[in-house]
Amino acid sequence: MSDAAQTHRPRILTGDTPTGRLHLGHYVGSLENRLRLQDEYDCYFLLANMHAFTTRADKPADIRQDTIEIVKDWLAVGIDPDRSTIVLQTEVPAIAELTWFFAMLLPFNRVMRNPTLKTEIDAKGLGDTYSFGFPMYAVGQCADILAFRPELVPVGVDQVAHIEMCREAARRFDQFYCNVDPRTEDEDYAKAGGVFPVPSALVGRIGRLVGTDGSNKMSKSLNNAIYLSDTPKQVKKKIGAMYPGQSREPNEPGNVEINPVFGYAEAFIKDEAQVDELKERYRRGDNLGDGHVKAAVIDAVNELLDPMRERRAALENKDGDERVIEVIRAGTAKANLVAEETLHMAKRAMGLDFGTRSLAWK
Ligand code: TRP
Repeated sequence: MSDAAQTHRPRILTGDTPTGRLHLGHYVGSLENRLRLQDEYDCYFLLANMHAFTTRADKPADIRQDTIEIVKDWLAVGIDPDRSTIVLQTEVPAIAELTWFFAMLLPFNRVMRNPTLKTEIDAKGLGDTYSFGFPMYAVGQCADILAFRPELVPVGVDQVAHIEMCREAARRFDQFYCNVDPRTEDEDYAKAGGVFPVPSALVGRIGRLVGTDGSNKMSKSLNNAIYLSDTPKQVKKKIGAMYPGQSREPNEPGNVEINPVFGYAEAFIKDEAQVDELKERYRRGDNLGDGHVKAAVIDAVNELLDPMRERRAALENKDGDERVIEVIRAGTAKANLVAEETLHMAKRAMGLDFGTRSLAWK
């Protein structure tokens, strides 16, 4: 039996597209859950580098570098490659094959109605000239997930539409090829003989973190992000420059609800009593300036990022890149055991079991 098959913990699959460094929005949306679940689950974290090509096919060198950087972010955050498996999408052929099969199970118009794709087309200004592969990535994401037959998919809220589509693909596959009754409860699909479980999204404690502009979702393209790799000085500068939503004197009552700095206070100050006190004094106008609130938030963010900075510093050299590539290789080799097993099960269910093959991975 393979190593992968011997592991009895339920599996998690999630991932990131390498488009740049990770920021606080990624942290509260999904990274935090990944860290928390590393022991309880058999975790697979996917580098969705194929997806990066859907909008940047002309930038292979950037995509390669972003892929390495994202692994550095993961390791810095505390993802432990001895416990969790880091997977390079382009070296898991089962994902590409399953994408084809799932593409036949999802109506074209259903894919094009996916609200996350629509939002991305607007946000990235893709107009109507995006590649064929762009909407295809949403089908590919079903395969990313289902190749690992996971129970849970930790993601930010913006990904929930994709997970819903993945659940539909799983149900349809199991109904078409494994005789699973369509009335079966989602949690029972595997028990009812389906190859694929119907996995659940696990949304982070803060699904959508506002950017430093105070209005949009934190994202690289909007230039409103605080990166996990930012220096203490950068954090101070970015939070220090945030508009608190109103203009007031420290002794005038303030509105906590319209001040985005309080969103960060809630997200990053661990001591709830301290947050409550800040809010209360701010509301009363009890000699509490915006600078004071910001200073407390800056401290909290830096306290969170300090250990990450330390772990990242150890990787910021030539050896660091080699270490990262080694982690990718080892993880991807292990991931292929699971993904090939899934593909084999899927093909058998589809009457495509004309032979077996094994992957040679070096
Ligand atoms: N689309 C996701 C994002 O942009 C990244 C991703 C690719 C993913 N494949 C996945 C997330 C599978 C969860 C599961 O963030």
